Amino acid sequence: MIASPPVVQHPAADGFTVHFAVSALATGWVEWGRSADRLDRVAIAADHGLVRASDLALSVRVRLDESMAGEPIYYRVVAQPLAYKNAYQLERGEVVASPVQKLRLPNAGADRITIAIVNDTHENRETLAALHTRLAAIEPDVLVWNGDTCNDFDERDAPMQIVLNPAGDVARGWAAEQPLLFVPGNHDVRGKRAHELSAGLSGWPGQSELPYNFALRLGPVALVGLDTGEDKPDAHPVFAGMAAYEPYREQQAAWLKSAVARPEIAEAPLRIAICHIPLRGLPGHNDGTTLEGHAYYSGMGAKLWLPILRQARFAAVISGHMHQHRIDDPSEAEPVMQVVGGGPQPERATLTILRAEGDKAELWVEDLAGKTISQRAWSIQAG
Ligand SMILES: [Fe+2]
Repeated sequence: MIASPPVVQHPAADGFTVHFAVSALATGWVEWGRSADRLDRVAIAADHGLVRASDLALSVRVRLDESMAGEPIYYRVVAQPLAYKNAYQLERGEVVASPVQKLRLPNAGADRITIAIVNDTHENRETLAALHTRLAAIEPDVLVWNGDTCNDFDERDAPMQIVLNPAGDVARGWAAEQPLLFVPGNHDVRGKRAHELSAGLSGWPGQSELPYNFALRLGPVALVGLDTGEDKPDAHPVFAGMAAYEPYREQQAAWLKSAVARPEIAEAPLRIAICHIPLRGLPGHNDGTTLEGHAYYSGMGAKLWLPILRQARFAAVISGHMHQHRIDDPSEAEPVMQVVGGGPQPERATLTILRAEGDKAELWVEDLAGKTISQRAWSIQAG
């Protein structure tokens, strides 16, 4: 019945959301507490009073009524099959529970934070397995999945398995013990079943128009997530009228302007943006605004968002999409550094780690053998 490991998303001071895939129509809930043997709290998902049921995945918001910052939360997910004979004759199956998990939530006030970033995994099992192993050793405070979880979500695909069970092992999650922040890529919106994505990697609570944008304070780091959308103009014939990313990017620019002005973002010792398609191109790169080819960088994102990031003194933008790692260092003309993660194949895949502590922040990019292939550092104003 429970068809994936739990995937924790939307970390906030007042709660977090747990997602898990189900193999048939079921309801689900989260039992949690402050110790592993005392899960004395229950969070039930309901919409306008009707308990949530799904045959894809369940998402359950756990509301914290007091700060749990720095303290582990123990929880397990529970599912119960549901069948309707008619509106007054419902059949409930046997209750199934996951093992108890120990969750650490990132703390806005912490003096140390480790953020891990993966991108363009494109359902590559070998790469995903290696990333799971390395992440378990690094124990980041937050994992960011920076787009292109899939090749597409076609009729024969199982979108919930791709997004909630990427290693293909219910006993082996990568975001059960710390939260996952999802940033959409251009492949994540393709195919007949692309609309199912939000069942597993759902939008942030209360954000119906800009579901995937976030601006979070994580210890010394302010992390801002942007959605670059598709890699061709909305009017491109292959989209057949299904693309409306241009107004969406405009809307995000207005959101970004106010997000970077929030004190916890503006005053963070280090500000980092993250989006799937790069915002900086190299000479000759396609900016994705014509009907020729596809974007190597987002021309619209560069025009709309980079000036805001520059003005707000962002240190770097972290992206992917190119399937080849590179770093574009800051220059006088473009003070925002760009880190581009690698591709889906094990020999191209990378893991990017950002660690900030005290007056120092460092970023390094590893290959799948765990070898550091790039490294940058900043001195930051602790504060
Ligand atoms: Fe991409």
